[in-house]
Amino acid sequence: MIYFDNSATTKVHPEVLTTYTKVSEAIWGNPSSLHKMGENAYNLLEQSRAQIAELLGCQKEEIFFTSGGTEGDNWAIKGTALEKGIYGKHLITTQVEHPAVLNSMKQLEKLGFEVTYLPVDENGRVSVEELKQALRKDTILVSVMAVNNEVGTIQPIKEIAQVLADHPKVHFHVDAVQAVGKGLTDLIMDERVDLVTFSGHKFHAPRGVGFLYKKSGRKLAPLLSGGGQEKNLRSSTENLPAIAAMAKALRLLLENETKNVAHEQAIRQKIFEHLQAFDKVTLFSQLDDKFAPHILCFAIAGVRGETIVHAFEDQGVFISTTSACSSKKGQVSSTLHAMQVDDKIATSGVRVSLDENNTLSEADKFNQIFDDIYQKFLKINS
Ligand SMILES: Cc1ncc(COP(=O)(O)O)c(C=O)c1O
Repeated sequence: MIYFDNSATTKVHPEVLTTYTKVSEAIWGNPSSLHKMGENAYNLLEQSRAQIAELLGCQKEEIFFTSGGTEGDNWAIKGTALEKGIYGKHLITTQVEHPAVLNSMKQLEKLGFEVTYLPVDENGRVSVEELKQALRKDTILVSVMAVNNEVGTIQPIKEIAQVLADHPKVHFHVDAVQAVGKGLTDLIMDERVDLVTFSGHKFHAPRGVGFLYKKSGRKLAPLLSGGGQEKNLRSSTENLPAIAAMAKALRLLLENETKNVAHEQAIRQKIFEHLQAFDKVTLFSQLDDKFAPHILCFAIAGVRGETIVHAFEDQGVFISTTSACSSKKGQVSSTLHAMQVDDKIATSGVRVSLDENNTLSEADKFNQIFDDIYQKFLKINS
């Protein structure tokens, strides 16, 4: 079996699973309880927060635990709108964001907010100049992802940060769900970035846990009101086993980050260089450093993405159509659409997404299987 669908989700690391089980068995008190069991749980919660903050180079008070990427995006966007809606009703994002961002924006439009959806170029990259032009007196938020989940484009976060240095009141949100462990910490934790979304299951932690970085001093209204956990900003009893497991997963991932990034790049290059020799293949991701090391999106003209996915699956290789969210809906990839890719080609788009456990020999095997599949499709289409 070859698992090349790590942008959809990753396998929980065995040591991370051990932490999850141990905490569930031994430290199962509620961190808000006044007794010893509560105190132990609280201490572990705060240790996990401190560990994550240290790994990312921020303050522990700036980390807020959530249920994952979708919640983090919803909170950053709607929380800003709730908090700052009295000062302005304009938000800026891009056409290639994850649905957690795009659908949050659409919901706000129904409530009277105005949203600018910036276009992208043929590589899926937003123009900093166009972003600058889109800023208005009533802009309260700019939300731009670090790494696109469908083609792997890295957005010019540093350049956007520079533009926003002249607009200190505008919240700058970065969805970093696909960027963790990919050599981009410096980019996502830029001084000017105010809010960053993280999701545990994309880096070998369990599902249903994540965190939001909120720069100290930045105000965000809560979306979950209740018992006042997370400094009154995100109520609900904390998912301590998953939080402790996530802190461990992040440590394990970042320990070998440089080596892992080079390894993923080498695998991606092997596949890229193989695929580019085929007439009917279009590659949407590029090999340069403006693309993340783990994502490769391509199409075989005339064959639907889901047909390609199943042909690989029959050979024990797991890839996906361009995103896990769109795959079952049979929709054209919104990123490829925004990149002005013809709909006919876009419906053929598939994504290979790697992690540090994949190997170069898996890439060789993938390439061999690709050759067979390609020949088969050529015969069918001729
Ligand atoms: C860029 C991006 N943002 C947000 C999400 C949503 O994260 P979660 O599955 O943790 O809700 C994903 C998931 O694929 C993603 O790729």
